[in-house]
Amino acid sequence: MASILITGGTGLIGWCAAEALVEQGHRVVVYDLKPNIANIAHFGERVTVVSGDVTDLPKLLHVMRQNAVDHVLHLAAFITDQAKLDPAGAFKVNAVGSANIFDAALALDVRRVVWTSSVVALGVGSGYDGTPVDEDYATVSRSPYGASKWGCEVIADGYRDLGLDVVGIRPALSYGLGRLTGGTGVFNNAIREAALGRATGIMASPSGLHQPMYNRDMAGLLIEAMLGPKTEHAIFNVPAEHDYSDTEILEIVRRLCPGVAVHTDPVPAYIPAIPLVDGGRARREIAYTPRYRLEDGIREMVDAFRREGG
Ligand SMILES: NC(=O)c1ccc[n+]([C@@H]2O[C@H](COP(=O)([O-])OP(=O)(O)OC[C@H]3O[C@@H](n4cnc5c(N)ncnc54)[C@H](O)[C@@H]3O)[C@@H](O)[C@H]2O)c1
Repeated sequence: MASILITGGTGLIGWCAAEALVEQGHRVVVYDLKPNIANIAHFGERVTVVSGDVTDLPKLLHVMRQNAVDHVLHLAAFITDQAKLDPAGAFKVNAVGSANIFDAALALDVRRVVWTSSVVALGVGSGYDGTPVDEDYATVSRSPYGASKWGCEVIADGYRDLGLDVVGIRPALSYGLGRLTGGTGVFNNAIREAALGRATGIMASPSGLHQPMYNRDMAGLLIEAMLGPKTEHAIFNVPAEHDYSDTEILEIVRRLCPGVAVHTDPVPAYIPAIPLVDGGRARREIAYTPRYRLEDGIREMVDAFRREGG
């Protein structure tokens, strides 16, 4: 049994990771600035919830020592829409917060840290030809969120050189139940609207094709990266199960919500253009196969939204 700290552990991806880890018999401490209790209410006493900020290094050290934490899943972040409004906040929470996590983990001999960068760390240069890029691609985003995530990758490399086992994954569209605002939340909310029979728009892909991974599968991938065999590399593009066009997504939503008018909406202004990514490295090094096709994930969401009503 491992003792695992999940920062941002009540968010869209975090609650799924907490649930899966508890079910596997691990001890889980969730560390979140504003714990979203609705996402974790069904756990009862099975997880320890701490309200805390990743920019608060003394508190992090205290919580990690007190719980004898041996693995960290670091998900806490300032996300795209917040970063657009507060660029300095994005660097503080994403870059300084991640540095604190790596620092604390190194000081306390944590066995491995897995953390989430983002495909939005990658920018699109004038020479980009639309084909999927691997992890050698090094055009940096000029958005505050993306650049702060790129900064985290550079900081993580520094800690890896100091001896920390640290692995980053770059999610793209990690959709699912648990958040209705900001980037992927906009996508989730559109599914909710369609499920409830209301006309809605699904945001277009910022990279030409959507590279989705259901939040439960993203949690599974991150857990395998954290508890599985040591990987050769330290950063991985998301290994999406399939690349979907805007039209394919509309077809799926129309199949699951017949009679509802759905159309494609433009990409929100706070989401910059990103390249398509090639997830081959993760498929080779991290033994996790997604369980949900996009249609399966959206179906689970539609069923849940209909049960909730609204
Ligand atoms: N969901 C996606 O599509 C997606 C795509 C790319 C990257 N990511 C990355 O994956 C990670 C998890 O994403 P998510 O979708 O679950 O996000 P989320 O916003 O749903 O969850 C993040 C959680 O972090 C917490 N948090 C924010 N600031 C904090 C701080 N200073 N200290 C402690 N906790 C703090 C929030 O309260 C929230 O519960 C993030 O690092 C995000 O950048 C997600």
